[in-house]
Amino acid sequence: MRRFTSRRLAPACLAVATVFAMAGASAQPAAPAPAAPGGKIKVGFMLPYTGTYAALGTAIENGFRMYVQQQGGKLGGRDIEYFKVDDESDPAKAPENATKLVKRDQVDVVVGTVHSGVQMGIVKVAKENNTLLIIPNAGVDEATGPLCGPNIFRTSFSNWQPGYAMGQVLGERGLKKVVTLTWKYAAGEQSVKGFKEAFEAKGGKVVKELNLPFPNVEFQALITEVASLKPDAVFVFFAGGGAVKFVKDWAAAGLKDKIPLYGSGFLTDGTLEAQGTAAQGLETTLHYADGLTNPRDKNFRLDYAKTYKLQPDVYAVQGYDAAQLLAAGATAVKGDMTRKADLYKAMGAARIDSPRGAFTLSKAHNPVQDFYLRKVDGRENKVSSVAVKALADPARGCRL
Ligand code: BEZ
Repeated sequence: MRRFTSRRLAPACLAVATVFAMAGASAQPAAPAPAAPGGKIKVGFMLPYTGTYAALGTAIENGFRMYVQQQGGKLGGRDIEYFKVDDESDPAKAPENATKLVKRDQVDVVVGTVHSGVQMGIVKVAKENNTLLIIPNAGVDEATGPLCGPNIFRTSFSNWQPGYAMGQVLGERGLKKVVTLTWKYAAGEQSVKGFKEAFEAKGGKVVKELNLPFPNVEFQALITEVASLKPDAVFVFFAGGGAVKFVKDWAAAGLKDKIPLYGSGFLTDGTLEAQGTAAQGLETTLHYADGLTNPRDKNFRLDYAKTYKLQPDVYAVQGYDAAQLLAAGATAVKGDMTRKADLYKAMGAARIDSPRGAFTLSKAHNPVQDFYLRKVDGRENKVSSVAVKALADPARGCRL
């Protein structure tokens, strides 16, 4: 569990000025109004710092802070002040937690979160208050679908995207009968929807959709059920600590060499050290991979390893790109975050020079990006090919 554990414990250091406004802390004094030109830009991290997604939240914050540090600690000519809330990956607490950042701390931008269910609460609060929101992971389709908005941006993916890419790969390989297995919440369900759309369009059939509640890791009964169905393959969505456990349980049940296991890349990203031999050879699809050859990625990986004594993963990339996107907006308005229309316009038009490869945003503000087919080799998710080039989420229901 070494790599996974060290991520969980890694401190997100390098703050220019950090205010720890953790959830549950006693009432804070009223903060001054946001965005006064000349003052600091207030960035509110709403991320999981505890629970199965804790390592993901830390990696996102690390990536974000590293980009800011590379700019000398300023974006748009202004220093950055950080605020933090641990969202615990708990959707029930999301509106209250987001309101703390928006109303109490009066942040200029909320950067959050990881969990799709929590994201729905943040989107609601951001829309009600016209607060800039940058989503650095959660894929919930609605955020760049029916709930899209001028102030809502994402630097990660929609849940539909990586699932769709794997559906295309397995459909093209001629597989016919697939069982899916996920946590029962938006990330799992929407990944399966994307997978099914592409896979069935190529003539395959999803014969059974299995699931268990998030963040339950009692996989045994479901693994037994999958084996009894004798599919050509299984497609899964799990991430963080749950992904570590699932991959190990799958191998321990003796299915690794019997039923091919595929997933969106969260299954093996940031988890390989803990998964060890159980993960070797697994194929996944994601918008990041090891072995990319662009210079941006090379420098990013060197800097990240030097700064945090860790190898970066997709979550660190998404955090880094969230800061890059904010920088594009802040530079365009010369640090005046009250010029919201100009800020949003510049962000919407930005081309982000990401370690994953450059990307632009769709009209709904979701990355249009390449999805890689990767294969686990040692401690790496090595790129095999581009599974789908410049894949755009369909943004169904978005009126922007
Ligand atoms: C989600 O809830 O959207 C999510 C969580 C972890 C990895 C990927 C997606």
